[in-house]
Amino acid sequence: MARSLRGELLGWLLVPLGGVVLFNGWITYHNAETIADLIADRTLLASARVIAEQVKETDGRVEALIPPSALEMFASPDRDRVIYRVMAPSGELIAGFPDVAPPPAPPNDLQPVYFDARFRNDAIRAVALAQPVISKTAGGNALVIVATTLNGRDRLISEIWRASLRDQIILVGIAALLTLFGLHRGLAPLLRLRSELRTRDPGSLKALRRDDVQSELRPLIDALNQAFSRVQGYIALQRRFIADASHQLRTPLTVLKTQAAMGLRDETQEGKTEALTAIDSGVDGMSRLVNQLLVLARAEPGGAALRKELIDFRGVARSALESLACIAFDRAIDLSFDDEADPLPVVGHVTLLRELVLNLVDNALRHIPNGGSVAVSLTRVNGNVQLIVEDDGPGIPLEERERVLERFHRLAPSTVEGTGLGLAIVREIVAAHGGTVELSDRPRGSGLRVDVRLPVADHEDPPQDRSQ
Ligand SMILES: Nc1ncnc2c1ncn2[C@@H]1O[C@H](COP(=O)(O)OP(=O)(O)OP(=O)(O)O)[C@@H](O)[C@H]1O
Ligand SMILES: [Mg+2]
Repeated sequence: MARSLRGELLGWLLVPLGGVVLFNGWITYHNAETIADLIADRTLLASARVIAEQVKETDGRVEALIPPSALEMFASPDRDRVIYRVMAPSGELIAGFPDVAPPPAPPNDLQPVYFDARFRNDAIRAVALAQPVISKTAGGNALVIVATTLNGRDRLISEIWRASLRDQIILVGIAALLTLFGLHRGLAPLLRLRSELRTRDPGSLKALRRDDVQSELRPLIDALNQAFSRVQGYIALQRRFIADASHQLRTPLTVLKTQAAMGLRDETQEGKTEALTAIDSGVDGMSRLVNQLLVLARAEPGGAALRKELIDFRGVARSALESLACIAFDRAIDLSFDDEADPLPVVGHVTLLRELVLNLVDNALRHIPNGGSVAVSLTRVNGNVQLIVEDDGPGIPLEERERVLERFHRLAPSTVEGTGLGLAIVREIVAAHGGTVELSDRPRGSGLRVDVRLPVADHEDPPQDRSQ
């Protein structure tokens, strides 16, 4: 399920806030309990003191008069029962109920003792107070116990607690509303961006505006704009390539058509044979061109998916050189090959890597005069396989070295057949394998040196698909 940014932000804010409210509710409840207990205890003590003041000895008997004010202070709509028990120093019950529970420990030093107990079926809160009785016969402390049921106390707790909880829920509600509003305002630029992208022309690669979005979103917009401009560049490249390719195909087709027309017009057998021979070599050239275009289309980024495998580059290079040996022999060119004794493992596409070697050696063989020499070497240098193709031909001037790597660029004037795709193909293949290619002068004498480096595959490297 798609995640919602708004939902996530809201969740992250409100869930912890809800937790805080619950925790606070628990604390508030305890505070309310403490306050209610304090109030109840104060009332109990006041009532017990009023009763205790009335405990006196008259005519040798300890008596307790219960003043109404001692009980009235508990008056409340909760109808709490007030119960008491007064005992003379002798332990004799002089007022109240005999079954009011005594305190867990008798009060010392005239300090009141508060305790919870039960009276009949009700829970009660009680205070016990010792009251000295001045007597000529037998002095001592009378015990006054006053207790009340808990209805009023419980109501107080729930009132305090509910009021505070209500306030907090209202606060959280307001916070949620403000957050929603803030999120709506904050996410508005993102939503605007979404609708801009949705409604724009599907083919449009125009850069998105970045001024009215927040700074956090700008890197995203920049990355999108960069991707748009890369795609734009790529499309422009494709268009140019198609235009160039169709131009390159049109010229030999026109030539073929003219040659065919001439052959048809020519009455003589020799004339027809000449035309057919020309057509034959023209078709060869075209099939080479079509083949080059296909290789290029497969090697370039976004081209057909390539299944890479672990291969020994020495074998690929050797087989490519073998197929060119007859051309070298024909033109009396000394073609040498120098490789390592150990395997040179590379993760790559066999056909493309073969095409790479073929194009470089083919260039060397084509662009140097008869009787020249071409040296190919393969070594392992700093984690790379290094392929060097060196010839003793005219070389390529420094200012042309970048441009000959572009498609259809050839040095003018060139008498050698070709379409100008070979080095562009080399560049694409090298890039597809994560390597580098460099053109330079041959170290000694004239000539071109091409230096290609491809990363050596560790044996653990699994072959990978290059499908994007
Ligand atoms: N070894 C070389 N020595 C001298 N010039 C070269 C050499 N290799 C390439 N060049 C120059 O660079 C140009 C581009 O080479 P590239 O291989 O791309 O095209 P091409 O050889 O002309 O045609 P093709 O597409 O058939 O290979 C060539 O036309 C040639 O002028
Ligand atoms: Mg070439």
